[in-house]
Amino acid sequence: MTEPSPISGTGTAATTRTPLIEVRDLATHFPVRGSLFGRGSSAAVRAVDGVSFDVYPGEVFGLVGESGSGKTTLGRSLLKLVEPTGGSVRYKGRDLVPLSERDMRPLRRELAFVFQDPNASLNPAMTIGQGVGHPLRIHGLVSSRSEARTAVAEMLERVGLHPGESFLDKYPEDVSGGQKQRLVIARALITRPTFVVADEPVAALDMSVRAKVLELMLELKRELDLTYVFITHDLATARFLCDRIGILYLGRFAEWGDTERLFDDPQHPYTRALLDAIPLPDPDRRGRDKSLPRGEIPDALQPPLGCRFHPRCPVAFADCGWEGRDLVDALEERWTDVDEDTFERELGMVGNLGDAVVGDDVVRFPSAAPSELAAWLRAEGERLPTSVFSAVEDVETGSDGVTVRFRPGPEPDEQQVAGRRVACHLHGVTVRPDGTHVGDPAAAASAEAPGSQR
Ligand SMILES: Nc1ncnc2c1ncn2[C@@H]1O[C@H](COP(=O)(O)OP(=O)(O)OP(=O)(O)O)[C@@H](O)[C@H]1O
Ligand code: SF4
Ligand SMILES: [Mg+2]
Repeated sequence: MTEPSPISGTGTAATTRTPLIEVRDLATHFPVRGSLFGRGSSAAVRAVDGVSFDVYPGEVFGLVGESGSGKTTLGRSLLKLVEPTGGSVRYKGRDLVPLSERDMRPLRRELAFVFQDPNASLNPAMTIGQGVGHPLRIHGLVSSRSEARTAVAEMLERVGLHPGESFLDKYPEDVSGGQKQRLVIARALITRPTFVVADEPVAALDMSVRAKVLELMLELKRELDLTYVFITHDLATARFLCDRIGILYLGRFAEWGDTERLFDDPQHPYTRALLDAIPLPDPDRRGRDKSLPRGEIPDALQPPLGCRFHPRCPVAFADCGWEGRDLVDALEERWTDVDEDTFERELGMVGNLGDAVVGDDVVRFPSAAPSELAAWLRAEGERLPTSVFSAVEDVETGSDGVTVRFRPGPEPDEQQVAGRRVACHLHGVTVRPDGTHVGDPAAAASAEAPGSQR
């Protein structure tokens, strides 16, 4: 088996050490069958769609992104709590992806998952002593009930529940939300794992309790030699806790690397948008746009072509992957802003957007006056609310409609930029299958010239 190549240059001293976890091209697709795709056909939700990174012993690697970006699926895939559909996850050099659940079992005590929802890991019918101690019994790590109780009481003390013994015969419903989350952490750590994936472990807690639980997690990391992947949609939490961060967008990293570099000097337009959306008391940032880019995160069933951020990207240009549905969306957005007369006139020309026939690199508008429509599109295309028209290769007039064709835009490769990895055509060069490229090779070379990294 070939060794995975190191992914380096990400800004920490960790790069000289051996990674604990090496993730390469990891993909987790969920097959979906249904009438939407016609009889016998199937599609897949591409929840995780080609992710590579390393996690070094003792570090906290954050996974950050909007709802639906694939954080939980990626976190669960690392521990094979869901089955990846491609790529590899090496733990201490051994690829977990091909292992059967039976082969995984001895490793399970070293790999822990902290759930967001305490009810997902604490059985309300079990006492705290039984529930938190359950993994000890599953893994045969204790030989008697009293040994288990002693171990649980000690772990409860470690997570700040004093005296530990006093909690053993209570039930999860007898304690507060903050205490419950401490129990969840205690349960995850009771087998003394090495690697912990924590999925939004404080999101459900009051602000006043959050910081205490986060500090506890850092304390436990030091005391118990833990390595974390920490999932959060909250950038402030990520900044506080994580050594490095990966910004996920529709199952791929937009940008990842050292936390402080990423916050000080974000390179990907999506990272910039996320940071701009944080309400910070910093006077320099006041007055800047606090909202995320237009629209919502698209459906992972049909990610946008090319750069999957292009429909929302404020600086997208012709090579970013514009496609048929983007032109329909741009017309719809335009029509929400124009006056009634303009809308009626343009609707009369373009027809109902629902009648447009959308393909990947093409869209056809049925029309009774195709020449008029084609002329209007050529004249107004550049004034649409996105730069979709910059990618139009051809506007073809037929007898009963107009067909608009787009030039394909490749998906951006990850590039090394100023000490982190960035997937955006504004950085580096992506080579198309036909050998032509997007981006300026000279600019790409200077991006990593000596001195460009801090
Ligand atoms: N078991 C599943 N079957 C089908 N689709 C799924 C499944 N689990 C997740 N998905 C889809 O995969 C995508 C990523 O979901 P995931 O829960 O990993 O995102 P997330 O970043 O954790 O979101 P959130 O912040 O809301 O927790 C979403 O489109 C989701 O609907
Ligand atoms: S490649 Fe870069 S510029 Fe183009 S859409 Fe994506 S993030 Fe925006
Ligand atoms: Mg989630």
